[in-house]
Amino acid sequence: MNRPLRTLRRGLMLSAAAGLLIGWAPNPSSETLEPRVDPSAWPAVPDAGLVDAAVEARITALMARMSLEEKVGQTIQADIASIQPEDLRRYPLGSVLAGGNSGPGGDDRAPREAWLALAQAFYEVSMEARPGHTPIPVIFGVDAVHGHNNVFGATIFPHNIGLGAARDPDLIRRIGEATGRELAATGVDWTFAPTVAVARDDRWGRAYESYSEEPEVVAAYARAVVEGLQGPEGGDDGLQPGRTVSSVKHYLADGGTQDGRDQGDTRLSEAELIRIHNAGYPPAIAAGALTVMASFSSWNGEKVTGHEGLLTEALKNRMGFDGFVVSDWNAHAQVAGCTNDSCAQAFNAGIDMFMAPDTWRGLYDTTLAQARSGEISMARLDDAVRRILRVKFKAGLFDNPAPVDRVGAGDYSVLGSPDHRALAREAVRASLVLLKNDDALLPLRPGARVLVAGDGADDIGKQSGGWTISWQGTGNTNADFPNGQSIWGGIADTVRAGGGQAVLSTDGTFADRPDVAIVVFGEDPYAEFQGDRPTLDFAPEGPLAVLRRLKGAGIPVVSVFLSGRPLWVNPEINASDAFVAAWLPGSEGGGIADVLFRAPDGSVAHDFTGKLSFSWPRLANQYRLNASDPDYTPLFAFGFGRTYADRTNLAPLSEEPGVAAAAATSEVYYAAGRVPEPWALTLRDASGTAPVATGASPSGALTVRAADATAQESGRLLSWNGSGEASFVVSGAIVDLSRQATGDMAVALRLRVDTAPTGPVILSAGCGTDCRGGVDIAALLTAAAGPEFRTLQIKLSCLRDAGADLIRTEEPVVLTNSGRLSMVVEDIRLVSNTGSAICPA
Ligand code: BGC
Ligand code: BGC
Repeated sequence: MNRPLRTLRRGLMLSAAAGLLIGWAPNPSSETLEPRVDPSAWPAVPDAGLVDAAVEARITALMARMSLEEKVGQTIQADIASIQPEDLRRYPLGSVLAGGNSGPGGDDRAPREAWLALAQAFYEVSMEARPGHTPIPVIFGVDAVHGHNNVFGATIFPHNIGLGAARDPDLIRRIGEATGRELAATGVDWTFAPTVAVARDDRWGRAYESYSEEPEVVAAYARAVVEGLQGPEGGDDGLQPGRTVSSVKHYLADGGTQDGRDQGDTRLSEAELIRIHNAGYPPAIAAGALTVMASFSSWNGEKVTGHEGLLTEALKNRMGFDGFVVSDWNAHAQVAGCTNDSCAQAFNAGIDMFMAPDTWRGLYDTTLAQARSGEISMARLDDAVRRILRVKFKAGLFDNPAPVDRVGAGDYSVLGSPDHRALAREAVRASLVLLKNDDALLPLRPGARVLVAGDGADDIGKQSGGWTISWQGTGNTNADFPNGQSIWGGIADTVRAGGGQAVLSTDGTFADRPDVAIVVFGEDPYAEFQGDRPTLDFAPEGPLAVLRRLKGAGIPVVSVFLSGRPLWVNPEINASDAFVAAWLPGSEGGGIADVLFRAPDGSVAHDFTGKLSFSWPRLANQYRLNASDPDYTPLFAFGFGRTYADRTNLAPLSEEPGVAAAAATSEVYYAAGRVPEPWALTLRDASGTAPVATGASPSGALTVRAADATAQESGRLLSWNGSGEASFVVSGAIVDLSRQATGDMAVALRLRVDTAPTGPVILSAGCGTDCRGGVDIAALLTAAAGPEFRTLQIKLSCLRDAGADLIRTEEPVVLTNSGRLSMVVEDIRLVSNTGSAICPA
């Protein structure tokens, strides 16, 4: 079934090339911007001393003993969700990672002992003495991007955007050191941090991973964070025990993409590329950063992961980076001419290690064949292997004992230790930016009667944001933070100690009139492209009515706004007497009460010191609003931040957002009996196409009618009678689902199978009838048959791998069948794969 569809796809490519497709042509640009590098335009960086004669001699001796298979193996990294330690015997890979959704044993809340045991298990196989094997320690990486955030019980620090507001490199260094200690306890060698993105468009879903929209702030932090994680370079020969290998990411210009689109294209001259987006790399390289992660994104239309000028000429040759470059999560598949299983282009361009989470097997086989055939030269392979081994030597992996015997390993008391929590709390205080404080409402008296409201008040998951326990950071409860404190928890402690009364009431209702209300609200957690926004208008999600009701009752209102970026909140600011931008503070919510309240003796305990590292918009369409712009009209400028000494009130703000209400999410196709805009459902067979409302496909092979499911008529009963092939089709817009596929999203179908299928049932996606990729879900439907509703999740990447062109998907979900089948469908949407999504065999 798949093969003819795959061949047909080529037809579409031709028509696309002939310009027959509308709606996705790249924007014409007046200036021609080429992705071409002139190395002399890039800064030369002081040598960090990573190349040292004694170590290089050891590497040379080791490489002389390695087989070609072992060399290729070093260049490939697998995710722990898709590899077992024993697999290293057959595939001698150089590295494993635990991605955002990959905990030991598939458990995001695995005990910390399980992390160390897993690190030990991979290490042991990599070091086994057996014939034909050169023992080389595997290197284990995670995204410890705001503390050791994948691990249950770890200290969760504020996300980078909040740290940017602190303007304190020494604080950043101390956080790096603390994070390193927590990593060492669990046997993890390597973190994919820091992110030195300079986020220029605040719609980007990763803006919170950026310290600032301005290169100077990022540059000032880059050295401090690398030194904090790795230890200061020089003096000692390599990393101190208990320190962590860093990965500076995402090289280059991840934060500059058009429309703030994650994994998109940064269109910029080379001079601006260097001035803005390269700012963090020279200081990080000079500090001895051992790895750099290449960006998913493109520069002037060319994917960085395949860009030799950027990776080899600029980064390695000119800036003198002597560590290794790792690619991002299956990013190689997005390079022109590459697939998940094959990408000599990226390797030849300068990628030294492929992050091939679930594709490592095929990629290993192909890369080995390419090294044999000469498509990858021996010189390039040896260079990559030498760089990887250099990092492993520098990290002490050859000289240190096994993970369980290393300094700090198994000392779990550092995870969420009082010291680390105090440091995180200090960072929270330093990150808060006071935007409004009419009539000097703040600081509050701890002896007051305080009402605490808003859905962010008592939710440590919400205050921590994405990359917290799970990838998206969703679905966490306070019980998932045994060492954390909510914002409400901190306020309650402070007010109790000050002799006042604090009451938590999420919806803001009260029995006893309070002296003041604190309302905590903001964005729900998200990560990467799932956080890309169409506009900066926050309003639809906000508790504006609660703020207005309290203010209308004459109760002074303090708003504490949790967000991964500045958003347009003029109505909320108007409805508040004081307004605090708190970003994503992490597990130490107590830092907020520290600043909002006076000490019990009436003195100011902690004044606000945070200054905006991102400009705050006046209108919801000021997507790209950066201090160095020519027409710069922010509401609150870069660097703004009040202190308690500022006594001026804020004049009322315009409540005109400047944009139409944001469109509904386009990833829900059918829910609660409705088909959301812009989607439509049709029935198609050999005789033509008919809208679902007509009840039958033109030849009658497929009929549909409303059916009761969880709610009355919330489902559609689809019946195929076996008289010929017919499809149930979702269409209505052309959408790019390629990022969703790379990001492991899945098509989720909630259904009840009344009559099991009598033949193949193809779930596909594609462009019209010409390009399509599908998988047979008949076995899944048969297994699901029965009186219960079930949810099937099929990975989007399976459809892509079967030939669907997801870059311009016209039909995101199509069910095709020629046999008999009857089932009630209740919900069709794209979801994050939280573990149950599959590719049917
Ligand atoms: C992200 C990286 C991250 C990697 C491993 C990717 O999707 O872009 O920032 O380091 O996954 O989890
Ligand atoms: C992983 C993340 C990764 C993302 C790719 C997720 O499934 O858990 O680590 O960054 O996919 O975008």
